[in-house]
Amino acid sequence: MYTNILTEVDRGVGIITLNRPERHNAFDDALIAELSNALDQMTTDPEVRVLVISSTGKSFCAGADLNWMKRAASYGNEENLRDARALADMLRRLAQCPKPTIARVQGPAYGGGVGLVACCDIAIATFDAQFSLTEVKLGLIPAVISPHVIAAIGERYARRSMLTAERFSAAEAYRMGLLHEMVADIAGLDDAVGEIADALLNNAPGALAECKQLISAVAWKPLSAEVIEDTAQRITRLRASDEGREGMSAFLEKRKPNWIQNH
Ligand code: COA
Repeated sequence: MYTNILTEVDRGVGIITLNRPERHNAFDDALIAELSNALDQMTTDPEVRVLVISSTGKSFCAGADLNWMKRAASYGNEENLRDARALADMLRRLAQCPKPTIARVQGPAYGGGVGLVACCDIAIATFDAQFSLTEVKLGLIPAVISPHVIAAIGERYARRSMLTAERFSAAEAYRMGLLHEMVADIAGLDDAVGEIADALLNNAPGALAECKQLISAVAWKPLSAEVIEDTAQRITRLRASDEGREGMSAFLEKRKPNWIQNH
């Protein structure tokens, strides 16, 4: 059982909630291990078709626990590196989860908290949420989160936000592409997350996983003959798949596909 997070599965939606509000959900080695474990569980649980990352308390996540970071600095190089890899690996698991992921951001996200948001496919926050990549203020760098943050906001915004470490509003995060939607309050947040989860539950689970792989295979690549061939191979495979056949037949027969009926 977990002590730093809460997990539940509700009608196809798996929810992992960071639950260390007294530390603003900052993550240390214990929280990272629990998150990694819960991500694996949700990824393999056939009941889970959509994953929501949420938090309790005032902040979404205050990033890395600075007591833990300080402790890691006093370790030998090997142990220090092992700790850093554990965080990088947890973020990778979230970013590469084959199921669609939604960040439900109810308050500020700093440092690694921005990384968590960036790792999710879809991010929704309340208007008052604030964001900051504070690392350089602390003599650190946003290292393990950088691939995810840069993928979300692009190099140009990354340069400004990572170098200034300035605080930016939800509206700015929305403009940068870190957020997809802003809502007035927690009730609005739950409604918006629920609506997106419902939309995702209507979609074919296998196609969603394939679509995530497609995006990462194609993103940032030049339109080479290799990329074009890869996309042709993928649609060839998908339209001949059980799901593809079922989805097209259901549309033409004016009925719901079996992944909706069965749910
Ligand atoms: N690591 C460890 N402890 C943290 C933390 C973090 N990242 N963020 C907050 N805390 C702790 C504080 O040290 C404080 O502990 P204390 O009660 O023992 O004094 C407690 O959480 C409450 O924080 P406090 O600063 O008093 O609350 P606040 O509401 O005024 O501010 C934050 C909240 C999140 C804005 C502020 O704590 C903050 O800026 N934290 C650092 C965030 C950061 O830079 N993260 C990136 C790390 S790479």
